[in-house]
Amino acid sequence: MPSPTPAPVALLLENIHPHAVELLGTAGYEVRTHAGAMDPTELTEALQGVRLLGIRSTTHVGDEVLAAAPDLLAVGAFCIGTNQVDLAAATERGIAVFNAPFSNTRSVVELAVAEIIALARRLTERDDLMHAGVWDKSAEGAHEVRGRTLGIVGYGNIGSQLSVVAEALGMRVVFYDTTEKLALGNARACASLGELLAEADTVTLHVDGRDGNAGMFGAAQFAAMRPRSLFLNLSRGFVVDYAALRRQVETGHIAGAAVDVFPSEPKSKGEPFDSELRGLRNVILTPHVAGSTAEAQQDIGRFTAGKLREYAAAGTTTLSVNLPTVTMDLRPGACRVAHLHHNVPGAMARVNQLLAEHLVNIEGQLLSTRGSVGYALTDVAGPLPTGFLDALAAVPETISTRVVSS
Ligand SMILES: NC(=O)c1ccc[n+]([C@@H]2O[C@H](COP(=O)([O-])OP(=O)(O)OC[C@H]3O[C@@H](n4cnc5c(N)ncnc54)[C@H](O)[C@@H]3O)[C@@H](O)[C@H]2O)c1
Repeated sequence: MPSPTPAPVALLLENIHPHAVELLGTAGYEVRTHAGAMDPTELTEALQGVRLLGIRSTTHVGDEVLAAAPDLLAVGAFCIGTNQVDLAAATERGIAVFNAPFSNTRSVVELAVAEIIALARRLTERDDLMHAGVWDKSAEGAHEVRGRTLGIVGYGNIGSQLSVVAEALGMRVVFYDTTEKLALGNARACASLGELLAEADTVTLHVDGRDGNAGMFGAAQFAAMRPRSLFLNLSRGFVVDYAALRRQVETGHIAGAAVDVFPSEPKSKGEPFDSELRGLRNVILTPHVAGSTAEAQQDIGRFTAGKLREYAAAGTTTLSVNLPTVTMDLRPGACRVAHLHHNVPGAMARVNQLLAEHLVNIEGQLLSTRGSVGYALTDVAGPLPTGFLDALAAVPETISTRVVSS
């Protein structure tokens, strides 16, 4: 009797949520888990025979690791950022990378809302006094947020959802984004950052981490804010000049601030933290936790594992961070060939010529390109003739090819 085919292996590091383990296990994977991150040497060893790798933000997956992992099909970054993965190398080696771009959006929005109210009521000051045994019942400096104008800089996933929740609290919302965005509810787009700063009495940053945003908010922008405004940054640490913010809080021009992200952050729990912003009244400092909730972790586990499973089972690359997007329903009984190639003229013509030469009829085909690569899913009436896959692999433009189902 032939021995049963061994289950494909998924390796999940850094305490990825049990939802991911369960989802991949149910899909037929042997799931190996490891509580911590791995260094390149450990990871290279552990990746032998592994089809799917799951990491969070600490494990670095460089080209040397990818080069030594011939069985690896896809990497799931069970977080938002993907800086820890060499994306160009993964693409060149035909390895898909996925992340969970929206799973913690709501968590960030809820913290921003909580902080806007806490700053407007100067809650942390009152809390500090109470813990020090001081009863200071007073309305001084305490405001409702209803009727205040919130200025959202960066109207992406987080900024636009915050817009909806803030309006539900009775705030007026204005926003500024470098690209054209649909204004939700009664929010109004500003033509420039300057226009937003002149109108808003609470300014919150939700821009992305592109290089051009380094230091985008400094002395000039704080000076342009309305007197006694509130300021929040839950986006990226390097976009704000915090020394300038400190000066403005000390003069009282900025009445309060909430900051979750810093240009240089401790690498792990327990390491000392320092910032120009320590020790200021009505300044809330949090250790990059805006997106860190149990709900977000659970959703990240489900979402990223789902993307890995779909890619492995159907070849679909929806929301991949490095491969072109191709989403095509898998018809029962179809034989699907996934082909990643260099995006040069004639590459697809050669693939289709090969199919014709092997008398294979195309039943469905979808191609998408992204920068230097093209990715095509081709459904054919199976089974594939002997020699076809070797011939496809030998096409000079081919990066990788596989039969997804047959
Ligand atoms: N603190 C946390 O725990 C945490 C959690 C999740 C996300 N984030 C960060 O929050 C930020 C927003 O996340 P997102 O998912 O909404 O991103 P997103 O990409 O959906 O939105 C970013 C928006 O900012 C706009 N933008 C970029 N530069 C700009 C500029 N200089 N001025 C105006 N608009 C600009 C973009 O056009 C885009 O619409 C990111 O930097 C992300 O890394 C932080």
